[in-house]
Amino acid sequence: MAVDHTAVAHPNIALIKYWGKRDEKLVIPNADSLSMTLDVFPTVTTVRVSPDERADRVTLDGAAAEGEPRQRITAFLDLVRELAGRSEAATVDTRNAVPTGAGLASSASGFAALAVAAGAAYGLDLDPTALSRLARRGSASAARSVFGGFAICYASRGISADADLNAYAEPLSVPDFDPALVIAVVNAGPKPVSSRAAMRLTVETSPLYWPWVQASRTDLAAMRTALRRGDLDEVGEIAERNALGMHATMLAARPAVRYLSPATVAVLDSVLLLRADGVSAYATMDAGPNVKVLCHPADAPRVAETVRAAAPGSAVVTARRGPGAGLRTRYQR
Ligand code: DP6
Repeated sequence: MAVDHTAVAHPNIALIKYWGKRDEKLVIPNADSLSMTLDVFPTVTTVRVSPDERADRVTLDGAAAEGEPRQRITAFLDLVRELAGRSEAATVDTRNAVPTGAGLASSASGFAALAVAAGAAYGLDLDPTALSRLARRGSASAARSVFGGFAICYASRGISADADLNAYAEPLSVPDFDPALVIAVVNAGPKPVSSRAAMRLTVETSPLYWPWVQASRTDLAAMRTALRRGDLDEVGEIAERNALGMHATMLAARPAVRYLSPATVAVLDSVLLLRADGVSAYATMDAGPNVKVLCHPADAPRVAETVRAAAPGSAVVTARRGPGAGLRTRYQR
């Protein structure tokens, strides 16, 4: 009997960003990051071990995966097989609720779901920490999507001499903070440069990179305090400066990487106007033009209306904190 292992995972948005690796093969970040897992845009991934197939079959959003996406998924399956001491091929079907590769964290939800589904399919018995390490090997941001709510991803926790063991995520208990995140999808198309290539170029060529990493360490400590206090203005200010700083490192790369578009800037301006009007609203952006605005849930409708007016034609979705990655198993003949 062939068994389907289906996992669901949600994207996360970093309030303290991860940008740049110190080990590309093991996917180990240069600095710690901190995020909120969302309750929107899930990835649903089914993995079945297929002993009769000669090679992995991978379907991404209903079509056979090709090129880099396929290569990253099969390399990840190779890692799972190595850990499990097995060699059979797999059949993988993965579906994202948002366009893949548009800077909407599809690789975070994607590799978190794949880690859970493939880990189960090949019989790995991993605790959440080990699962986050495994997900990290697919995409470092995926380590955080293993957990619901807020999560911190350590670049080097120093629990072992082994760099791989030291880089993992864990949940962060933030009982007094339950914000909304208004997401303005100003452009759902694929990004011009992958985040992987852009972060490599930034680390190698941007004179602003290491100063930002340094500032990010201070930001992380301040963010933990602000989250503990449940202070949205403090959290928002730190998140916004950390994100703008990350984009500054890219703008200073040679050649420059610019993900921000005129529509992004229009939304950023509208967020400033909201603040001038007394609304606590703060922006963060990832490797793409889309803007995520942190605000009080009660203000979310007004924030959504404002950003929609600032970037006509954008899809606007309001997210809250969401669940960690998990399994849904069903049996097939
Ligand atoms: C800008 O996790 O997609 O979203 O580890 O190379 O797969 P790889 O990169 P990825 O980068 C995400 C970067 C970011 C910031 C963040 O989520 O922390």
